[in-house]
Amino acid sequence: MLRRVTERPSVDDILNAHHRWYHVIELEPGVTTPGFADLRSQVDHARLPADLSGLRAIDVGTFDGFWAFELEKRGAQVIGIDVDEIPPPDAPEYKRQQILEELAGVTPGTGFELLKRWFGSSVERRSINVYDLKPDRVDGPVDLVFVGAMLLHLRNPVGALEAARATLRPGGRLIAFEVVDPALAGHDYPVARFKLTDTIWTWWRPNIPCLLGWIETAGFSDIQLLGTTTVRDATGNEQMLATVHAVA
Ligand SMILES: C[S@@+](CC[C@H](N)C(=O)[O-])C[C@H]1O[C@@H](n2cnc3c(N)ncnc32)[C@H](O)[C@@H]1O
Repeated sequence: MLRRVTERPSVDDILNAHHRWYHVIELEPGVTTPGFADLRSQVDHARLPADLSGLRAIDVGTFDGFWAFELEKRGAQVIGIDVDEIPPPDAPEYKRQQILEELAGVTPGTGFELLKRWFGSSVERRSINVYDLKPDRVDGPVDLVFVGAMLLHLRNPVGALEAARATLRPGGRLIAFEVVDPALAGHDYPVARFKLTDTIWTWWRPNIPCLLGWIETAGFSDIQLLGTTTVRDATGNEQMLATVHAVA
């Protein structure tokens, strides 16, 4: 029997969906989506304010919505933005075919929409390229922008951060939980590795001074590095992430 798309999906509907899950998200005790990144033990590292009641937040590059749902749990009214084009707009021309093959049959947003209905969430997902982010696209200036593990996938991370800043109200907060390169930790000057020669998705892996420099160059102030953590993905690779808070 066909079920209406507004109905709550069953656990089987979610687990049997044709979807390439990114986030491990708990559906009920002991039952999770089969994602690439299990961030459940990392939430405290992002240092999200405990109470976001009455605030409006954007989750940039929301994918299956892990961080958007976390922001919503703290009381924020959240819009998750992501890109729906395949290949994504920043894909380099010479990797397009490889990406098309890798993502054959994938419909962006599938996991998010199932989870939204599962949780009865009010988070809205909008198809917006981060570079096009501005108050008009999200019903006015917002109080908080969260960027997680996405600057590394952009040609122009500073341009994305400038758009994030332009979308924040004056005094609004940026929370970045972003990949940094531990192999570059020995340098106290800003440096990033160019990664498209050995990956298909990643442009840059910055060291911490470089990540802080991107944020400063985009015009943010009161930039605070609040720590680093290491996450092991489903393939066993480890990524170091840094938490940075800053003010627009
Ligand atoms: C590695 S995933 C990170 C997911 C999530 N933010 C997190 O921290 O777990 C990168 C996300 O950024 C999105 N993305 C890539 N380029 C983008 C762009 N130009 N604008 C908005 N989102 C983008 C991808 O589609 C994907 O959902």
